Amino acid sequence: MKAAIIYTSVTGNTSTLAEIIHDKMEKRDIDTDLIPIEDFQPHLLKQYDIVAVGTYSWDNGDLPMEMEDLFESFETADLKHVTTGVFGTGDSFYPYYCGAVDLFRDMLFVHTNLAVTLKVELTPQDDDLDRCEKFCDRLSKELAVVS
Ligand SMILES: Cc1cc2nc3c(=O)[nH]c(=O)nc-3n(C[C@H](O)[C@H](O)[C@H](O)COP(=O)(O)O)c2cc1C
Repeated sequence: MKAAIIYTSVTGNTSTLAEIIHDKMEKRDIDTDLIPIEDFQPHLLKQYDIVAVGTYSWDNGDLPMEMEDLFESFETADLKHVTTGVFGTGDSFYPYYCGAVDLFRDMLFVHTNLAVTLKVELTPQDDDLDRCEKFCDRLSKELAVVS
């Protein structure tokens, strides 16, 4: 079983969240690659059983520009067999809180086996650790159901 976490982060909130999720996946003995979006290669997506996408939101709840290729790869490649999750950080000061998470969620629901989503307000706090644990539970359990 092989997993990837593909994420983007400018000010560090989403990368902190990605690292927490990475630790928790590894603790489950799931071999998990932690991949910043700038190292992402579309043809490698198919090799994973689980992919978690991590994103902040921008410009009225929109996707960061650097996530557009990844978004399109899920839409165009045949990835129905891949179990996915999407997590992100945002600021509820903005009208579309974590809008990029919602955009990924809706697309991944159509094109993959979407298992779970997670939204975190800015930097992850102690009570978010439990939510991260649940995120990983759902990701790994969903796979067990499918395989
Ligand atoms: C110009 C600007 C626009 C933003 N727009 C949104 C938004 O529409 N929705 C939202 O939830 N957060 C928005 N944010 C907040 C960021 O998504 C939030 O700070 C996030 O945690 C940044 O992630 P990072 O630290 O991983 O880069 C915006 C921030 C900035 C500076």
